[in-house]
Amino acid sequence: MLIPHKRKPYLAFTNFLPMIKEYIQSNQQRFLDELFELLRIPSVSADSRLKADVRKAAEYVVKKLKDAGADKVELCETAGHPIVYGEKIINASLPTVLVYGHYDVQPPDPLNLWTSPPFEPVVKDGKIYARGSCDDKGQFYMHIKAFEAMTKLNQLPCNIKFMIEGEEEVGSDNLGTFVKENKSKLKADVILISDTSLISLDTPSITVGLRGLSYMEVEVTGPNRDLHSGVYGGAVANPANVLSKMIASLHDENGRVTIPGFYDKVAELTAAEREALNKAPFNLDNYKKELDIEDIRGEKGYTTLERTGTRPTLDVNGIWGGYTGEGAKTVLPSKAYAKISMRLVPNQNNHEITELFTKHFESLAPKSVKVKVTALHGGEPAVTPTDSKAFKAASKAFEEVWGKSPIPTRDGGSIPIVSLFKKELGLDTVLMGFGLDSDAIHSPNEHYGIKNFLIGIETIVAFYKHYSAK
Ligand code: BES
Ligand code: MN
Ligand code: MN
Repeated sequence: MLIPHKRKPYLAFTNFLPMIKEYIQSNQQRFLDELFELLRIPSVSADSRLKADVRKAAEYVVKKLKDAGADKVELCETAGHPIVYGEKIINASLPTVLVYGHYDVQPPDPLNLWTSPPFEPVVKDGKIYARGSCDDKGQFYMHIKAFEAMTKLNQLPCNIKFMIEGEEEVGSDNLGTFVKENKSKLKADVILISDTSLISLDTPSITVGLRGLSYMEVEVTGPNRDLHSGVYGGAVANPANVLSKMIASLHDENGRVTIPGFYDKVAELTAAEREALNKAPFNLDNYKKELDIEDIRGEKGYTTLERTGTRPTLDVNGIWGGYTGEGAKTVLPSKAYAKISMRLVPNQNNHEITELFTKHFESLAPKSVKVKVTALHGGEPAVTPTDSKAFKAASKAFEEVWGKSPIPTRDGGSIPIVSLFKKELGLDTVLMGFGLDSDAIHSPNEHYGIKNFLIGIETIVAFYKHYSAK
């Protein structure tokens, strides 16, 4: 057991990593127990019935930040779920790192496909199975434990602020307002986030790009009521048939989106950028095997890594209408619906894309139906710099802990608040994620490797060490 000794809390040149490693090892069971307690709280931000549980998760984070050594911790009320803010300022003249994460999770549905209940974490094959284990409870909790280790061992080398929100999975609307209204409180030098993925445990990577998002719901209405599909079928427009055809027409035979103007502002990568991006290891056979698909598809002329990292896309996320219960009911639905997301890349603007989609989708409707298009949420894409002091520190952290230089990658997912941090606070973000694409985030049986969790804590501490070195 290490006895923390009193010394100046910011000796930038001491190598405190071995000491930290030992601290992580001797406390790992407790770290996991604490994370499990957080994972047991069903903090699904989208489910209004679970509002009290979402709050309970926030209160738990408040407590854990205090226990870890934060001086000031607050539960900040918003129009929706609360934001947890915490800080430890050791010396105003030192740099400040602002850690962002989210304690809310996606709904666990479909429940019947989970092999163990989503809010009863279990370890199987060295992985923690639970909703939120990777996205993002397991990942932001690494930061609280890295902070605890540095604080308890008197090795915190700079100031640290935490902002852990409860609405990331529903679009972070209230966080946007919070950031705009609390600029001085959030004053920092860099944002640090673990909410993305790595290539693999053998090949570390740092995310340098995230896609933006424009998320729509469409409703197609035909007759004023459900009709007998024998009596009326073939004589009245069926909104489910019409909607399917409208959706099918949104891609051409080359896998390109047909909305006029959709690609107008897309920043094309240079040949050198494309080459660099495609150097990242990617095995198509394993990719297909892991997903149990015979073939892939996507925009013609681009590799899979380019399709998810650098190209805008359009996908149906849900589609329904008419009878979907057990057995058969012969009915021609009055209404059909779909939820459609568009992933965006620099320099597309989500408001513009939302407008282009709306106009185009309305224009596709035949006179026999009515169409209603609603925007649900959106966010801008982000590209983070690779020449900053913080990015270099993150690189060195991987080199030191993993023995390998991390590869810069562009991820297909979205964290809309990243572009807002840049716009409102003028701050760049370092996306140091430790998940794997195979961790099944948003899917049944989400999991997170205990190895990823522990090495993540160490790598985060190494980031602070290199970021604070003079
Ligand atoms: N952590 C993810 C985003 C992510 C996952 C980025 C994997 C890179 C790799 C985040 O929690 C998320 O799911 N974001 C949503 C957007 C939000 C507005 C609902 C998304 O990407 O669908
Ligand atoms: Mn996330
Ligand atoms: Mn998510």
